Amino acid sequence: MPRTQQIGLIGGDGIGPEVVDAAREVVDVLARAHSLSLEWVEHDWSCRRYAETGAMMPDDALETLAEHDAILLGAVGWPGVPDHVSLWGLLIPIRRAFRQYVNQRPMSVFEGVPSPLAGARPGEIDLVVVRENVEGEYSEIGGRMHRGLPEEMAVQESVFTRHGVARIADHALELAGQRRGLLTSATKSNGIIHTMPFWDEVVAERAAEHPDVTLESELVDALAAKLVLQPQHYDVIVASNLLGDILSDLTAAVAGGIGIAPSANLDPTGEHPSMFEPVHGSAPDIAGRGVANPVGALWSAVMLLDHLGHGEAAAVLMEAIRTTLRDPATRTRDLGGTAGTADVTAALCRLVGA
Ligand SMILES: NC(=O)c1ccc[n+]([C@@H]2O[C@H](COP(=O)([O-])OP(=O)(O)OC[C@H]3O[C@@H](n4cnc5c(N)ncnc54)[C@H](O)[C@@H]3O)[C@@H](O)[C@H]2O)c1
Repeated sequence: MPRTQQIGLIGGDGIGPEVVDAAREVVDVLARAHSLSLEWVEHDWSCRRYAETGAMMPDDALETLAEHDAILLGAVGWPGVPDHVSLWGLLIPIRRAFRQYVNQRPMSVFEGVPSPLAGARPGEIDLVVVRENVEGEYSEIGGRMHRGLPEEMAVQESVFTRHGVARIADHALELAGQRRGLLTSATKSNGIIHTMPFWDEVVAERAAEHPDVTLESELVDALAAKLVLQPQHYDVIVASNLLGDILSDLTAAVAGGIGIAPSANLDPTGEHPSMFEPVHGSAPDIAGRGVANPVGALWSAVMLLDHLGHGEAAAVLMEAIRTTLRDPATRTRDLGGTAGTADVTAALCRLVGA
């Protein structure tokens, strides 16, 4: 009898609980069909909790999460709670404490999901953005001085370490080696003259150890333009924390919508649990209406299952997602379909339970 794997479930705010509940329902059916032994442990950590108690999560939250094999998160953020509170009170502490130094975001154009780009045909665009997730531009070093005075100023330091850049480059190179063998490194070494040339040097050093992968380095502004004009060129893109954050939203939009885009915050060493979450936020404008697209959360669940060693079940779920996206009756309204969250969930349960 295989050991039961425990998955921490943090719905969060807005549509977060709606989409993770959908993912849980489908994964439960899939698990029964494939004899997987999975257990969900729910945590109600959210902006609602912050409003009631003054903290997004309890003091021992990280100890609790450390016991899980993986974490599935919906989204956090709600009007009235500043976004930096929800981000730094939950997401960032989890990513950092668990050394989830890779943020991996695949993107594909699916049949049935119209891309805003003319000529973006299903199957031709299939890429992964690998974003450095724990250092870089998102640092706590800096401060503000002379608040409220005319000479008020703010300083924010970026932190790039050899260790941090080398390990994200290695992860991206290994991934590219398993795919088409092309790695594009996003840089801005013409404008940012210390950290970015350092990034370029370390990425090139690591690439020299992977002769099976072709490395190209592109200035992020040109890269952003080329992602719109020639997205089919790309295979794996590696980028610093800030550049990767922006590029992965761009690639999600190119694929036809934020509602389907998944992400994984990975500790590739396996020492700590990894966390899987849709790219989208809590979408207060549609929360509670039953119309949220659950595919971003479900594709994240595919990555979670793969990570836990259930590649076969993950592939079945991915194929089921492709099938539902083809049909307007099982596609949500953000993608031009007519389905609600429950309709997509029911269709997926039927497909994966067969
Ligand atoms: N990882 C996270 O938890 C995360 C990520 C991004 C934003 N946020 C937070 O979410 C809140 C709202 O942010 P926002 O409005 O900028 O971004 P958002 O992604 O929540 O919404 C942007 C737009 O996309 C639509 N949308 C998003 N997900 C959808 C889905 N699954 N199905 C259908 N439509 C969908 C929304 O209705 C909205 O019109 C903010 O508080 C923000 O800080 C959290």
